[in-house]
Parts: sequence; structure tokens; C-alpha cells
Amino acid sequence: MVRVTFVTPQGEKIAAEGEAGTRLLELGQAKGMPLEGTCEGQMACSTCHVVIDPDWFAKVPPAVDDEEDMLDLAAGVTRTSRLSCQIELTEAIDGLIVHIPAEARDMQGR
Ligand code: FES
Repeated sequence: MVRVTFVTPQGEKIAAEGEAGTRLLELGQAKGMPLEGTCEGQMACSTCHVVIDPDWFAKVPPAVDDEEDMLDLAAGVTRTSRLSCQIELTEAIDGLIVHIPAEARDMQGR
């Protein structure tokens, strides 16, 4: 299993574990993180935006151009922002720390 810690906008740490091959988006949703993932991984929305912990960013396989383009449209983007639907859990990122942007939460239920 691959371990991931989600950090909420309030600073709460949520430990999660997923099988290798699971998408980060699915794991986050399973843990109740406010990641809508509206387009289900088609890189046509940015509601699955997360911020990778800077210490971990280089260990995650890099974004393709389409992902970068979509991230440009996401609210609250940072240098280590990614689309969680494009990140697959692998042994190489066991221990990953992912921050949930406050903006994603604001989109919920409004
Ligand atoms: S779910 Fe739409 S871009 Fe990730």
C-alpha cells in the first residue's frame, strides 16, 4: 500500500493508504477530501487541484502540457500544484504529503 497524508485548508492531517495504481483523486475522495473531479480525469476541469508538498514535488512524475494548461485556470495555483486525477499512486511516492487548497473547498455546495 502507498501512504498519503492529506492536509486540509484548516491544517488537519488525514492519513490515507491506497493500492498502487489508484489515482490520488480517488483516494482523496474516499477520504472525504473536497475534490470534485468533475471531468473524471479528462483534464477538462481543475476541480481536482491539489498542492503537492514542496519536499515531494520532484518525486511525482511531471505534468504533461495539457495538465499545465488546465492548472493555469485553477484557483489558488502554486508552483507545486497538480491535478490529482493525473497522479497515480506508486511505491516511489509512498509517504506523499498533499495539501488541499482552500479554494477547492469553497466550490463545494455553493
Ligand atoms: S478531474 Fe478534471 S482535471 Fe482532474
